[in-house]
Amino acid sequence: MKILVTGGAGFIGGNFVHYMLKKYPNYEIFCLDKLTYAGNLSTLESVIDNPKFTFCKGDIADSKYIDKLFSENKFDIVVNFAAESHVDRSIENPQIFLHTNVIGTGVLMDACRKYGNIRYHQVSTDEVYGDLPLDRPDLFFTEETPIHTSSPYSSSKAGADLLVLAYYRTFGLPVTISRCSNNYGPYHFPEKLIPLMISRALANESLPVYGNGLNVRDWLYVEDHCRAIDLIIHKGKIGEVYNVGGHNEKSNIDIVKTILKLLGKNEDLITYVADRKGHDMRYAIDPTKIHNDLGWLPETKFEDGIKKTIDWYLNNQKWWKDIISGEYKDYYSKMYGNK
Ligand code: NAD
Ligand code: DAU
Repeated sequence: MKILVTGGAGFIGGNFVHYMLKKYPNYEIFCLDKLTYAGNLSTLESVIDNPKFTFCKGDIADSKYIDKLFSENKFDIVVNFAAESHVDRSIENPQIFLHTNVIGTGVLMDACRKYGNIRYHQVSTDEVYGDLPLDRPDLFFTEETPIHTSSPYSSSKAGADLLVLAYYRTFGLPVTISRCSNNYGPYHFPEKLIPLMISRALANESLPVYGNGLNVRDWLYVEDHCRAIDLIIHKGKIGEVYNVGGHNEKSNIDIVKTILKLLGKNEDLITYVADRKGHDMRYAIDPTKIHNDLGWLPETKFEDGIKKTIDWYLNNQKWWKDIISGEYKDYYSKMYGNK
């Protein structure tokens, strides 16, 4: 089996590459990544010399490059993680999100059609459903929940999802889609809530909480997401969408306080800053379908996952300290400077 993993130098794609090489030592794993600010080859350092692993640097939206890659390699499955993934950046500069998330998805699927109707899996997000109210804890996102996006990021992901389903219906491309809730764990880029708060708390720097901190996210340990995608690409039904989430809703302020407690730091570090524009209130996944159809259940409880994650950031300081030096500093002062 030869699998193309796009965006494999990023957070979830990187974890997926490690997961797959360990679980399927006979599979060939190709990673294609543009190495944007969010892609780090150091995430793949321990597998780069593995004879079953190949890294290629390229853009999923570059049709000539993609055509050449597919003409030279007979892939059995394509798993598309490559994306611009940060909501705040999409508010600053939406265009690049359309280029990668929509055009890139189309280019990959055209190559899948041309080179043998290759099985295609789209890694999507629960953000395509918009948000839920805080005062209706009985409501959850199911696969039937209408698409109702809030940010340029989520809109670009929803656009890609619709394109994927259209390629299934119109061309019969064998596709699947997973829509997962917020992930956390190793190799998470420190612009996202959990790694940002861990890295700043360790440096005794202020922790910027947007608005009143009561927005709720549904957190899933990244390895559980990798296991769900593994099940879907091997056993999932073609043309289907699967929601992935572990019923683990937490408010942002609770997450930040938990991190401070585990690190033995003072809550004085918390600083409330201006809210994100269009900020989604609550995400909550109903994972009944993937549980009933594929037997998936999350294995890591949040209490254990957050400790493992903090330990990882404590033991791998070079990985994130390299990132937060240089260009990242300009990003931080631009995004948070006037909040
Ligand atoms: P990430 O930003 O950490 O990684 C994205 C990777 O894609 C990077 O390595 C980057 O270099 C690469 N990339 C970007 N543009 C590219 C292009 N044009 N061509 C090739 N490579 C390109 O993202 P992540 O958090 O790992 O998310 C991965 C996928 O999972 C995304 O599609 C995202 O929408 C989805 N998702 C993320 C979460 C989450 O909590 N992080 C939850 C659900 C779904
Ligand atoms: O739900 C899945 C989505 O989760 C993925 O599709 C996205 O790719 C991923 O980035 C994530 O999106 P969020 O916007 O939920 O994640 P983020 O870590 O940016 O923010 C989580 C919450 O924390 C959100 O309510 C905003 C808040 N926040 C975030 C940052 C960076 C803060 O309060 N302060 C911050 O500095």
